[in-house]
Amino acid sequence: MKLPYAEPYRIKTTEAIRTSTREERERWIREAHYNLFKLDSDKVFIDLLTDSGTGSMSDRQWAAMMTGDESYAGASSYRNLADAVHTLFGMPYFLPTHQGRAAENVIFSALLKEGDIVPGNSHFDTTKGHIEFRRCSAPDCTIDAAADTQKELPFKGEMDLEKLERVFSENPREKIPCCVLTITNNTAGGQPVSMRNIRETAALCRRYGVPLLIDSARFAENAYFIKTREEGYADRSIKEIVREIYDHADIMTISAKKDGVVNMGGFVAMRDKELFTRAMSFCIMYEGYITYGGMAGRDMNALAVGLMENTEFEQLDARIRQVRLLGDLLDEYGVPYQRPAGGHAIFLDATRILPRVPKEEFIAQTLGVELYLEAGIRGVEIGAILADRDPETRENRYPKLELLRLAIPRRLYTDNHIRVVAAAVKNIYDRREEITSGYRITFEAPILRHFTVELDKA
Ligand code: F0G
Repeated sequence: MKLPYAEPYRIKTTEAIRTSTREERERWIREAHYNLFKLDSDKVFIDLLTDSGTGSMSDRQWAAMMTGDESYAGASSYRNLADAVHTLFGMPYFLPTHQGRAAENVIFSALLKEGDIVPGNSHFDTTKGHIEFRRCSAPDCTIDAAADTQKELPFKGEMDLEKLERVFSENPREKIPCCVLTITNNTAGGQPVSMRNIRETAALCRRYGVPLLIDSARFAENAYFIKTREEGYADRSIKEIVREIYDHADIMTISAKKDGVVNMGGFVAMRDKELFTRAMSFCIMYEGYITYGGMAGRDMNALAVGLMENTEFEQLDARIRQVRLLGDLLDEYGVPYQRPAGGHAIFLDATRILPRVPKEEFIAQTLGVELYLEAGIRGVEIGAILADRDPETRENRYPKLELLRLAIPRRLYTDNHIRVVAAAVKNIYDRREEITSGYRITFEAPILRHFTVELDKA
């Protein structure tokens, strides 16, 4: 008999989580103004709000924390992280930051001026926020197929080169300080980008003299998909693939809370010394001195280990199998989601799951609240609330897709938890005809409103 699959690790520490009754959850979510961000975590049974900073560190990462060097300048922890960054990505200059958006803040402070244009493949919301906050624009050049949830493509997060070239050719070069390629493409469903697309995007950028910035939050998962799906890469190691990806990049920003498997941290790295010199001052002003930026020594040590460990095939294989398990169970139950299953999450197709809720009443948010009520599971809306208002007209922007993201933290939950999630989603899908109304906004912040929005029943 062929032996079944098992994870390449065992569990050393556990953390208790609690179940609750539907009545309790009804009260809690009402008190949270129907915003899942406002719930206390002990009121959540299975927390799929994000895979960011929520993974389980390995024993070696914990051990590395104990040897963290907290010196203000020139700490050995900085050198450990620098070694990992140079080895994996081949970038000569880097600045540690407290997380991904801080890396964006540092580099965009050095690069962007009012009126600039920063094209990309579905910029993440903080990336777009940092661009629009500086009165710049962030045209989306993702391939159209990414918006068709039922279309199966191996690399559905790619840059549409024709759209990108249009932005390049219709605008003066000095208005385009960089192009952002996000791997994997979070907003489009954790969908990967092929090496071919990375290479061609880089070539186009080079032709127009535009630096290529790779938003690298889930770079290792993207490398896993290149290895397992793209011709010519099956025999290459994840580390070799990562190096090839970054040979095409001029700049990288990273939220290390994802594929670095740490609770906090990030950095920005680059090839150009002059850009580094400019960015350095912003790092010192916003984050901290250049050899720690926004990170403690112990955290830099844990990240150095996490980056090397999570670029091993077995680790990534275990993770992506678990995400696929959720997709397979949903297939069995006939529940529509962004196909194929992504690297870090399943994105439920809320419009198809709740066909009777009008878009003005926030379909994906409604599904998120339903899933919490059903089983204490917390996902996150990727729909009209996240899409926010148009900065010019202040009208609500209704995106092509209303999705509820169920992000799976690394090494945190077992397959049994995943089975509970799938069953809860199925129960809601089965009573979809009864769910006819959603929510209306009673309070919103002027920027990044989804974190603090308050809602009431429509
Ligand atoms: N870029 C991508 C692609 C991201 O997914 C994130 C964060 C960031 C940048 C910003 O990094 O949170 O460390 O400041 N994504 C998290 C998520 C929040 O849940 O997907 P950060």
